[in-house]
Amino acid sequence: MKIAIETERLLLRRLRPEDLDAWYEMDSDAEVHRYLGKSPITDLQQLKDVLANVQQQYIDNGIGRWAMLDKNTNTFLGWAGLKLMKEPTQGHEEYYDLGYRLLRKHWGKGYATEAAKAWVNYGFEEMNLSEICGRADIGNAASRHVLEKAGLEYIDDRDFDGQPHAWYCIQKGKWQNHKKQQA
Ligand SMILES: CC(C)(COP(=O)(O)OP(=O)(O)OC[C@H]1O[C@@H](n2cnc3c(N)ncnc32)[C@H](O)[C@@H]1OP(=O)(O)O)[C@@H](O)C(=O)NCCC(=O)NCCS
Repeated sequence: MKIAIETERLLLRRLRPEDLDAWYEMDSDAEVHRYLGKSPITDLQQLKDVLANVQQQYIDNGIGRWAMLDKNTNTFLGWAGLKLMKEPTQGHEEYYDLGYRLLRKHWGKGYATEAAKAWVNYGFEEMNLSEICGRADIGNAASRHVLEKAGLEYIDDRDFDGQPHAWYCIQKGKWQNHKKQQA
């Protein structure tokens, strides 16, 4: 298991307590939570509990969402990564979910796409996964676009947490073929 992933502009590494202030700015923003159940956090303790949960996932599953930093300035931009989802959905008892979230001031610069592509690569090449999936609220056009640009294919619309979501997946073989065609 690598301890960091570097891309052209980003450093991806495990989330840590030092990320909490910037992370709080992100997750207390109602606009960030527009398509995430509209429940921004309201106190730091909630986020500390989330961090403890994510750190437990690192121990139990060897993976989880990681911090996304500007590699030149070390600025926390948000998080991205693969989370092992143990909630069954049609066709899957569990699956690896590609997700990302950025502070609003960092939207629109291609960071989510850059991180998502790196995570798909990592999932197939380093973790040897057979499939990666992702979902986005059907109205979350930016997130759907990122999933597509990372190579995931739209499967169908399905319900998560009482909300209709677009469901996307890509299998390792298809991804390898897609990569060969682009080379
Ligand atoms: C979704 C999110 C991560 C995207 O981050 P980002 O770094 O701005 O994304 P990128 O710049 O890599 O790409 C976004 C793409 O969607 C497009 N896009 C943005 N808003 C759009 C909209 N309303 N309609 C259609 N396309 C849109 C952008 O043009 C861009 O595509 P392009 O590169 O072809 O121009 C960011 O908006 C965010 O953090 N949102 C809140 C949390 C969230 O919804 N997370 C996803 C949960 S499933």
